Amino acid sequence: MKHLVIVTHPNIENSIINKAWINELNLINDQVTIHQLYKEYPDYKIDIQKEQEMILAHDNIIFQFPLHWFNIPFFLKKWIDEVMAYGWAFGPNGDNLKNKKIRFAVSTGGDADAYASGNSIDELLKSLSTTFLYCGSEILPSHLFYGAGKEPNLNEINKNAKSYVKIITE
Ligand SMILES: Cc1cc2nc3c(=O)[nH]c(=O)nc-3n(C[C@H](O)[C@H](O)[C@H](O)COP(=O)(O)O)c2cc1C
Repeated sequence: MKHLVIVTHPNIENSIINKAWINELNLINDQVTIHQLYKEYPDYKIDIQKEQEMILAHDNIIFQFPLHWFNIPFFLKKWIDEVMAYGWAFGPNGDNLKNKKIRFAVSTGGDADAYASGNSIDELLKSLSTTFLYCGSEILPSHLFYGAGKEPNLNEINKNAKSYVKIITE
């Protein structure tokens, strides 16, 4: 079964890190479904049924996004609020996310030091992981790229992108 990568980046054309991740994922497109929310829904109107069917068709789901104000981009929050509905993701018969393996791939502008003490990405994204745990999913370790704001070199970006694909597929 393919891995589903849900990308939420408002400006992927000008992205460096998330674009590099997508380019690397494209090399294994027989193993991954890449789903870009902003491209799919430029008017922000989410097709809830289509999203739910996509989730049902995959057991391993990666949410890939840049950190925005120490949080997820707003469009991903909208996706969660609408797609992870009562009676589907939780509540009566709401067991469709049960046992799904969920991973977050997050890029940050700030460097690793900014997230070293008391403000780790895991801590900042606690409500996100709690949301999926509440729905019975399993959370896998996040994949991170720190310091996108400090002009990282191409080698570092390529190495990170390759390790991203490796952890997804191993
Ligand atoms: C609205 C907005 C908010 C941001 N907030 C943060 C933040 O809280 N912490 C941080 O480290 N970087 C922040 N950034 C920087 C982005 O995370 C960074 O540019 C992005 O991860 C780089 O990935 P990309 O090359 O794929 O665009 C923010 C950027 C934008 C546009």
